[in-house]
Amino acid sequence: MKSKAFLSESKKILVTGGAGFVGSTLADELVKLGHQVTVLDNLVTGKREYLNPQAKFYKVDICSDEVSRIFSQEAFDLVFHLAAQIDVRKSVEDPIFDNKVNVFGSLNILKNCLENKVEKIFFSSTGGAVYGDASEIPTTEKFLPSPICPYGIHKLTFEKYLNYYYQVYGQKYLTLRPANIYGPRQYNGGEAGVISIFVDNTVNKRRCIISGDGTQTRDFVYVDDIVQAFLKAMYSNFVGEINIGTGRETNLLEVVKAIETALGNDIEKVHGPARPGEQMRSCLDAKRAKEILHWKAQVDLKTGIKKTIEWSKNKKHPPDL
Ligand SMILES: NC(=O)c1ccc[n+]([C@@H]2O[C@H](COP(=O)([O-])OP(=O)(O)OC[C@H]3O[C@@H](n4cnc5c(N)ncnc54)[C@H](O)[C@@H]3O)[C@@H](O)[C@H]2O)c1
Repeated sequence: MKSKAFLSESKKILVTGGAGFVGSTLADELVKLGHQVTVLDNLVTGKREYLNPQAKFYKVDICSDEVSRIFSQEAFDLVFHLAAQIDVRKSVEDPIFDNKVNVFGSLNILKNCLENKVEKIFFSSTGGAVYGDASEIPTTEKFLPSPICPYGIHKLTFEKYLNYYYQVYGQKYLTLRPANIYGPRQYNGGEAGVISIFVDNTVNKRRCIISGDGTQTRDFVYVDDIVQAFLKAMYSNFVGEINIGTGRETNLLEVVKAIETALGNDIEKVHGPARPGEQMRSCLDAKRAKEILHWKAQVDLKTGIKKTIEWSKNKKHPPDL
């Protein structure tokens, strides 16, 4: 744990991907804590209306040369790196593009952290995709990752770069490996976020398509819990990887049931074809998060789904599809 002075100090913080679902929720909390927040985002999936009005904004791609100029001009103390190509299916269709954003772009951010003496970089990896179809469920950080999609491969590759920069140059980092995140503001155009997609379909009277028999499982964690994990990470001296999940496996049929229970009525659903190569099980062991960050998921699925439905019903902006 860091000193009291550190806790109360206002820091210059960069949030890449800070117009996105998780990044914008994190930026809001950092602003509330009194930090000077800058957001760097190319708005490919992020939304201008999610930008915190007190944060400085650069509409810039993480792959661009502009990044160097911004880093030297702003002199950030800390960087939360969340900008990413997050769609697993897209990564399968175009692994070169996924590599460009998630490896090359991330490396551009990391190189600038080192050159501009950033104290620490916090990276949002993926506990849902780095391990692949793990034989150990719930999966611990000690399990050897074996991703089965380019998205997972590239997230893991950048984790290795973080470790290399730490070992060789002393650049501090902390990688969080979040499970499947859901909640308000989740982008509804990609594959990630089955809960948000089903909720949005239901609220807008579209039917939900369950791929395969619906017995595939995920570990669903509410966005506010993820943000709390990032905030706790900020005050930790730990360098390495930490799973952020609930340790609970939930299958798609149970997700549908939970949405139906929250709504008080059945939802329109059909089974579609199983997705070839789809990971069948995913669930994270979060003991390390508890020990090191004193973090534990607080929002149960029932409550999280209710909050997501409420947000979806009241949302002013339809998804940009
Ligand atoms: N959503 C999940 O279930 C989940 C689970 C585990 C990890 N993550 C990770 O958490 C992070 C945030 O994910 P999210 O769900 O908020 O996704 P999101 O798509 O809402 O956010 C990503 C943000 O990055 C921006 N971005 C994308 N490419 C960029 C580029 N080349 N340059 C600059 N900005 C770019 C987008 O515009 C968007 O605002 C990602 O790194 C993702 O891989 C997400």
